[in-house]
Amino acid sequence: MFTFKVNGKECQSSRDGRLIDYLRDELRLTAVKEGCSEGTCGTCTVIVDGKKGKACILKLSKLEGKSITTVEGIPEEEMKVYVHCFAEAGAVQCGFCIPGMIISAKVLLDANLYPTREEVKKAIHGNICRCTGYQKIEDAILMAAEYFREKRMIPEGPKHLGLTQRFQRVDVEEKVRGTGEFVDDIILPDMAYAKALRSPYPRARIHRIDITRALAHEDCVAVYTAKDVPNNICGHIVQDWDVLIPEGGITRYIGDAIALAVVNHKENLEEVLSLIQVDAEELPPVTNPIDALKEDAPKVHEGGNLLTKKVCKRGDAEGAIASSKYVVTRHYSVPFTDHAFMEPECAIAFPEGEDGVHLYTAGQSVYDEQHEISSILQLPAEKVVVESKLVGGGFGGKEDMSVQHHAALAAWLSKRPVKVKFSRKESLLVHVKRHAMEMDFTTACDENGYLTGMKAVLYSDTGAYASLGGPVLERACTHAAGPYNYQNVDIVGYGVYTNNIPAGAYRGFGVTQSCFATECNLNLLAEMAGITPWEIRYRNAIRPGQTLPNGQIATKDCALAQTLEAVKEVYDSHPYAGIASCMKNSGVGVGIPDIGRCRLTVENGKVHILTSAACMGQGVGTVTIHIVCEMTGLAPALLVHERPNTERTPDSGTSTASRQTLFTGEATRRASILLGEALEEKGSLQALEGTSYYGEYLGETDPMGSPKPNPVSHIAYGYATQVVILDEAGKVTEVVAAHDVGTVVNVQSCEGQVEGGVVMGLGYALTEDFPMAEGRPTLNYGKLGLFRASQTPPVQAILITSEEVLEEACGAKGVGEISSVPTAPACAHAYYRYDGIERTRLPLENTFYRKAK
Ligand code: FES
Repeated sequence: MFTFKVNGKECQSSRDGRLIDYLRDELRLTAVKEGCSEGTCGTCTVIVDGKKGKACILKLSKLEGKSITTVEGIPEEEMKVYVHCFAEAGAVQCGFCIPGMIISAKVLLDANLYPTREEVKKAIHGNICRCTGYQKIEDAILMAAEYFREKRMIPEGPKHLGLTQRFQRVDVEEKVRGTGEFVDDIILPDMAYAKALRSPYPRARIHRIDITRALAHEDCVAVYTAKDVPNNICGHIVQDWDVLIPEGGITRYIGDAIALAVVNHKENLEEVLSLIQVDAEELPPVTNPIDALKEDAPKVHEGGNLLTKKVCKRGDAEGAIASSKYVVTRHYSVPFTDHAFMEPECAIAFPEGEDGVHLYTAGQSVYDEQHEISSILQLPAEKVVVESKLVGGGFGGKEDMSVQHHAALAAWLSKRPVKVKFSRKESLLVHVKRHAMEMDFTTACDENGYLTGMKAVLYSDTGAYASLGGPVLERACTHAAGPYNYQNVDIVGYGVYTNNIPAGAYRGFGVTQSCFATECNLNLLAEMAGITPWEIRYRNAIRPGQTLPNGQIATKDCALAQTLEAVKEVYDSHPYAGIASCMKNSGVGVGIPDIGRCRLTVENGKVHILTSAACMGQGVGTVTIHIVCEMTGLAPALLVHERPNTERTPDSGTSTASRQTLFTGEATRRASILLGEALEEKGSLQALEGTSYYGEYLGETDPMGSPKPNPVSHIAYGYATQVVILDEAGKVTEVVAAHDVGTVVNVQSCEGQVEGGVVMGLGYALTEDFPMAEGRPTLNYGKLGLFRASQTPPVQAILITSEEVLEEACGAKGVGEISSVPTAPACAHAYYRYDGIERTRLPLENTFYRKAK
C-alpha cells in the first residue's frame, strides 16, 4: 500500500504505477495532461513537496509520505489571478500546456514575487508550448507576480465590445483551470480501449494475420481486421489509405495499421497486441522521391508513384531569364518536420440510435470526419454524429483520420463506447508531417533589381499516402514566385509517393518550403544588382492594382510595401539582420467551393453562435463574438459560442488555409446583420426568443489554369515581412514581424498567432527535423528540436491594416499560417550577413543552434 497526499487529502493505492494514471483515472484530476509520456513536455507538471515533478514518469512507490499539488489544489484566490492574467496577456491558445505552466508559475512565485523575465523563462524551461511562442505566457506570469505582490483587484470585463478592442478570449478560464474537456479527459461507462497493431516494416507483404491467441486473452473484447471493415479505404481528398491492411496486401509505411485490438482495460492493450501473429515478408522500400519516379522503382500504389504534377506557367520565363542582366540558380532542400501539437490524438466513439455512431473528436473539421467515417462504415451521414471537444493544437496535423475512424469502427462493431488514444511515440509514427522538398529555383532581374522571370522545379515527398499532398504542392507552386510584381514564371511541381511516413497539411501549407528558395535567391540577386535586400523587395513588392505572378490583381487591402516600411529602421540598424517577405492565401481558393456558415439562435435569453469552425487554439470562437458584438451592439456576456457538432452547427468547412476568420467571420457578419435588424424591429432579445438567423458566405474563385487573363485564385492574401537579428555570437536576439492582417480582430489572439508562428518558424529554420532511415523515424519527441522558452528570443509583432480593407469579415484576413512562412529565409539571410556562408538546406547548419553534420 502506498500512502501520500494529493491536494491536501490522504490517498492510498494498493498498486504501483505512474502518478499521472492515478491522478487522472482514479482521482479524475484532469488538469494534469499527458503530452509526451517521457518527462519532456511538462504538460503533467505537479508539485511534490514544494518542488516540480513530472507525473508521467513519477511512480507511486517513490511518493510514500509525500504531498502532491495539482492545479485543482491551488487556492481559489490564486487561481482567479492566474485566470485573469493569462486571459489579459493572451497567453492561452489551445490550452493543453497551460495547467503545467500554472504549476511552474506557482512554484516560481511562491518563492519570488519579483522575478525577472529571465527567471520566468527558466521557471518554464521544462514546459513546452507549441502555440504561443512563450512571450505572452511570460507576460502573464510577470503580471500575476505584480497582482500578488500589490494585492491588486481583478477588474471586470467590458460591458460592450468594439471590433478591434482588447478582449479576453472566451475559453481561457476552462483551459487555465484544466476543467475544459479534451477527449482524453472523458471516461464513459463500460468504455473499452482500442489500439492498432502497426506494420513491422515500412514495406511488407502481409501473408497472414492470426488473431486466435489475442482473442483468447481474458481481457480481449475483439480484434478487427480488414475483413471487418465495410469499406476499407479512406483519405481526405484521394481515397488511397487503408483503414487496416488486409491479408495479401502490402504495407506502405511503418505506421500502417494491420489489426485493431479492443480490450476492457487499457493496461492490457500491449499484451493483447503482442498475441496477434503477423506473417509479413519484408520488401525493399523506396524512400526518396527522385528514386520513386524511376521506371524500376517499387510501386507504392498500383497507379504508380506520381501522385500529382502541378504546373504554373505565365508569360515567357525562359526568354525573360535569357535576356536578364542577373540570374541566380540554386538547389534547396527542406526536411520533414512534425507538428508536435501538445495533445496527442484521442477519440471516443459510442453506438447511437439504430446502427449509428457518435464520435467525440479533436480534429480540424467535424464534417470532414463525418464524411470519411460514414464512407468507411457505409452509413448515411446522419447516422454518424461528430462532436468536437477542445483541440490541443493541430497546425494541419489533425486534418486526416488517425484515431477517429478506428474508434468509430470499434464502437460500431463492438456496440460499446471505445477510446483510441495515441501515445506520443505512436502519434509521431502515424500522423502526417510537413512535406520534405527538393527544389531547383532560377530567378532573374534587370540591372536595377527589378524581377523579370523565374523558373522552378519542386519534388515533394508525400510519403505513403496522398493526404493533402496535392493542394500543398499546388500552394508551394502558386506562391513560388513570391509577392512581387512580375509576370514570367514557369513552375513545375511533382508530388511523389514513397514509403516514408505520409506528409500533409502543416501551417504554411507548402509556402513555407518554396518561400525559403524564393527569398534566398532574391538576396543573391540584390547583391549582384548592388542594392540591399530590403530595397530589392521594396522595388518589386506587389501593390494594389498590380498583377501578381499568378495573374491575380492585387486587391485594395494589399499592404506588403507597408510591412517593408515598418521594418526598415530595424533592418538598417543591425549588421546581422536578415529579411524575408511573403504572401499567403486566405481560403482554399482555385475554384474549389469554399463556404463559411453561421447560425445565430436566441435561446434562454442568450445568442448562441453556431458554426463548425474548429478552434485548434487560434481563437475563432472569440473572433465570432467580436463580430456579433460589433454588428448588433449586444454585450459579450449575452453571447455563447458553441463547439462544432454535426447535429447542431452548420458546416463551415475545415480549419485550414487560414480561412476561418475570413469565411466563417463573414458568414457570422451576415447572420449578425439579420439579428441586428430583428433586434431593431422587436426592441429586445427577449422578444426574439426561439428565433434563428443564418449567414452563409461562398468565396468564388477561378480554377487553376483558368483562361481568364487575371483569374482570382484566392479571395484574399495576407502579406508579411520579418527581420531576424543575430548577436555577435550568432544567436537570434530578436525577430520583428510586420504582418498585413487587414482589420485586427482580437488583438491578443492576432499577436499570439504571429508570435507563435514565428517561434515555430525559428524551429523550422534552426533546430527542427524529422529524419527517417529507410522509412523509420530516428528521433524521439525530446529530440525534435522544439524551441523552449529559455531559447526563444523576443518577437515584436507589428500588425498592419491598410487604409482600405475588404468588405468580407469586416476586413479581417487570416494570419494563422503566414506567421511561420518567412522566418526561415530571414534566418538564412541573417547568417549570410554574419559569416558570408550561403545555406541552402534546412535546418540551417553551422549556426549557434546546430553544428554542421
Ligand atoms: Fe501552449 Fe497550445 S497553448 S501548447
